[in-house]
Amino acid sequence: MSTEKKDALKLWGGRFESGPSDVFERFSFSLHFDRKLFQADILGSQAYARALAGVGILKADEVQTICDALSRIPEEDAEGADDEDIHTFVIARLKELTGELADKIHTGRSRNEQVSLDTRLWVRGEINRALELLTLLMTVLLESAEAHPEAVIPGYTHLRRAQPVTWAHYILAYFEMFSRDYERLSQARKRVNVMPLGSGALAGSGFPVDREALAQELGFDAITYNSLDVSADRDWALDFLYAASVTMLHLSRLAEDWILYSSEEFGWLELGDGVTSGSSLMPQKKNPDSLELIRGKTGRVFGDLTALFVTMKGLPMTYNRDMQEDKEPVFDAAAQLNGALEMAALVVRTSVLKPEVPRQAADEGWLVATDLAEELARSGVPFHQAHQLVGRLVLDSVKSGKKPGDWTAESLAAFDARLKPEMARLMDPSEGMKTRTAPGGTAPETVRKALNAARKRLESM
Ligand code: ARG
Repeated sequence: MSTEKKDALKLWGGRFESGPSDVFERFSFSLHFDRKLFQADILGSQAYARALAGVGILKADEVQTICDALSRIPEEDAEGADDEDIHTFVIARLKELTGELADKIHTGRSRNEQVSLDTRLWVRGEINRALELLTLLMTVLLESAEAHPEAVIPGYTHLRRAQPVTWAHYILAYFEMFSRDYERLSQARKRVNVMPLGSGALAGSGFPVDREALAQELGFDAITYNSLDVSADRDWALDFLYAASVTMLHLSRLAEDWILYSSEEFGWLELGDGVTSGSSLMPQKKNPDSLELIRGKTGRVFGDLTALFVTMKGLPMTYNRDMQEDKEPVFDAAAQLNGALEMAALVVRTSVLKPEVPRQAADEGWLVATDLAEELARSGVPFHQAHQLVGRLVLDSVKSGKKPGDWTAESLAAFDARLKPEMARLMDPSEGMKTRTAPGGTAPETVRKALNAARKRLESM
């Protein structure tokens, strides 16, 4: 393209005697990444053209011409184009299609508000997708819980066997985390979904465009209240990145659990062939790469959140070009989040629990110790003394290689007279569990109620 033509297409050439250096162009142009905002920029520009008709800048037929031309710009042309950014690209193509008329589209408008508008529209779409995928993940989690309502597994603290819980109870823990993520993303969506157009570069629009109508047309819940704030802030993007980060954190912990639970050492879960991969050297391997990548990408999303925090922290009011650096972290976090959610849902859906394996672990470990101590407390033994007594019983068993099931009513009574015959039933991990009926506990009947409640919540999401 000739230098003169290039300058005419630039949005700000008039004040300069010579053009930007190649080095500066290469350093500062953002089209290669912000072309993701193409659709948003077209929609925003069409709505703005209509708003300009409302203030007498464009005639009805001119609006028609501009809107038609905008929808004819081929998105793929943005790949490899040499415009500064997506906003410049769209206006330049519009000018090719409509000639001088295109020179009016930017009346009263600044890229500072446009960039906020476009990114908000784009993030809104990604949040919608994340909410859909979260619902899918919660659905398949519930299916796994419902398939094994009474399967018993060891619950852990410090990755040491602690107390028996049901598989369904364990799965519902993640259901709760993801339902809060759903809430957090919905809240972020609310703050994202506020319409900034009509703010100008920083001081507000000199053309009294109908901002409420713009908001309605573009599906926003509200309009922004302060033009300086629009140019200056990106807290709505940070809200999204934070909500994405916490969701990734939960996905990463689920991934870590399932990497362990599907390992030969645990052996509880068989991951589907479709989400695992083999080794180029070791023929026997079936590796949980899908889950490892979820865990790995989590760090990357935390990095995206940190990157935008650091970019924003020292900026003077209002817009500074530093803020162009908001996009890549936001784009990246959205891609990793939605990719990881989709992946996790498939892993959960295609994994098979082998309930007898964790059950055996629950039977063999001394997970019932707390149940026994609490039963002693119920029978009148002060809890601290009951704790000591059971502690001695466990020590004795560990030394002599006894499992809980090896103890009988008689041998327990012989160990300590406070151990009544009916307490022997507590050597079965399914028994003590039944006492944990306080809401939120792992008693199977309580979990069944929790499952039903979760199902209803999911249906009303
Ligand atoms: N590409 C720029 C960005 O993403 C658009 C805003 C440019 N505004 C400006 N004053 N240079 O931030």
